[in-house]
Amino acid sequence: MTEPLISARGVSKSFASVEVLRDVDLDLMPGEIHALLGENGAGKSTFAKILAGVHRPTTGSLSMSGQPVEVTSPIVAQKLGITLIHQEPISFPDLSVAENLVLGRHEGGWLSRVPWAQMMRDAAAIMAVLGVRIDVTRPMRGLSIADQQMVEIARALASDSKVIIMDEPTAPLTPKEAATLFTIARRLRDEGRTIIFISHRLEEVFALCDRVTIFRDGNKVITDTVGNLSEADIIRHMIGRPLKEYMHKQGSVIGDVALRVEGLTRPGVFADISFTVRKGEIVGLGGLVGAGRTDVARALFGVAPAASGQITVQGQAVSISDPSQAIDLGLAFVPEDRAVAGIFRSLSVEQNISAAVPGKISTMGVIRRSVEKAMAARSIANLSIRLASARQPIGELSGGNQQKAILARWLLTDPQVLILDEPTRGIDIGVKAEFYDMIGALAVKGCAILLISSELPELLALCDRVLVMSEGRLTADLPRGVATQESIMQAAVPRSGYAA
Ligand SMILES: Nc1ncnc2c1ncn2[C@@H]1O[C@H](COP(=O)(O)OP(=O)(O)OP(=O)(O)O)[C@@H](O)[C@H]1O
Ligand SMILES: [Mg+2]
Repeated sequence: MTEPLISARGVSKSFASVEVLRDVDLDLMPGEIHALLGENGAGKSTFAKILAGVHRPTTGSLSMSGQPVEVTSPIVAQKLGITLIHQEPISFPDLSVAENLVLGRHEGGWLSRVPWAQMMRDAAAIMAVLGVRIDVTRPMRGLSIADQQMVEIARALASDSKVIIMDEPTAPLTPKEAATLFTIARRLRDEGRTIIFISHRLEEVFALCDRVTIFRDGNKVITDTVGNLSEADIIRHMIGRPLKEYMHKQGSVIGDVALRVEGLTRPGVFADISFTVRKGEIVGLGGLVGAGRTDVARALFGVAPAASGQITVQGQAVSISDPSQAIDLGLAFVPEDRAVAGIFRSLSVEQNISAAVPGKISTMGVIRRSVEKAMAARSIANLSIRLASARQPIGELSGGNQQKAILARWLLTDPQVLILDEPTRGIDIGVKAEFYDMIGALAVKGCAILLISSELPELLALCDRVLVMSEGRLTADLPRGVATQESIMQAAVPRSGYAA
């Protein structure tokens, strides 16, 4: 039997007095793609960060090829050949792609000592190996997330990493970009490297991974060959109880038009967008990543207003030029990119949850802590947000739990019109069903909901109607019953000549 490339023995991790990983033993083999699965907050990212030197284990040890190692920092990890690709790539936006590739690679690290022409040649060669076409002389700024990830992977290759950890890499990718990533991951595996792959999408695990380890509440439950486990086995190990079924759509009464959009246009981004959402109606907005759906949502909420077109809320023509106006009109918006648009990282979970409803927690401008606290506690229970304390900084929560907290914030505003942008991205399978029930219940209460989602089953299960966008234009409006995975995909695929 081959020797493991990395072995973890008895690895535990506590933050303050809370133990989030408990006595984990795990062997990672050379030449395997190893999935880490578990519910939000199960400890996947924490384990990854321990391997990558971001966190130190509280107890336990690591060894590489049989030799004990102390991964005391990310730099040490890199020297050992371990690279963690974060979900939000960390890079220097103003430096060129090539410079980002070689950063930290050269002892002493001064870029000026690296001959420019050679650097460009090396960088281009690495990109060619990956089969990715990115101009290495251009700045990082403005690259798509997929391309930024490719640069991170290229950097791992440039530093000759033996272990590459990908923490939810596919969440922001189009299916085509994800396919490219998979091809590259397989190639790296076949060269004998170890890939650790974290995802909430089980179909990706079945398509890509050789073995899987499942965490639950900080404990390792099982490691096994993917082929030995069914989807039902995996879910049972992950959540330790039967999965709550999302029964069927709740019957809500569809009323007057709550939101009407006519001819909304922002040149180069989206054009001539017209649709309505009625009270009690859940309208889906499907399409590929990059089709312009988020831009439309941001225009509706006044984050980046449209250049022309008319928005009507509850029968009243309005112009929304910033989010506070949108909130006053009864709109709420749960953004897809919580790192940019949703989170006040240094504030507590409580403060983040109550951030959109200052009126509800203050009396004559004075914030009443007890009210804030009670309100946050209810949200935390309703959405089963996992945390040590409601007063801890939100940045300490796991990715999925941060997402739930932001959702809780907007649900508290009692919106007339709720715009959700990829709300279940990064949310585990156990909570999704509860979340769908909450959306359904809001519709029953008369809320008009616009749901942007790339998950076709989600659109089909929840929505009364599915709109589809492609290249900045609306390409379909499919009533429930007519909408199918095929009809949505067909309308989502770009056709030349459609560009806004
Ligand atoms: N820096 C920190 N300080 C305090 N607690 C933390 C810190 N980092 C993580 N935790 C806690 O550790 C637990 C595990 O978090 P982790 O990020 O590993 O979960 P995860 O499995 O990656 O979840 P997700 O699927 O939501 O990303 C969570 O309860 C989280 O709140
Ligand atoms: Mg995580």
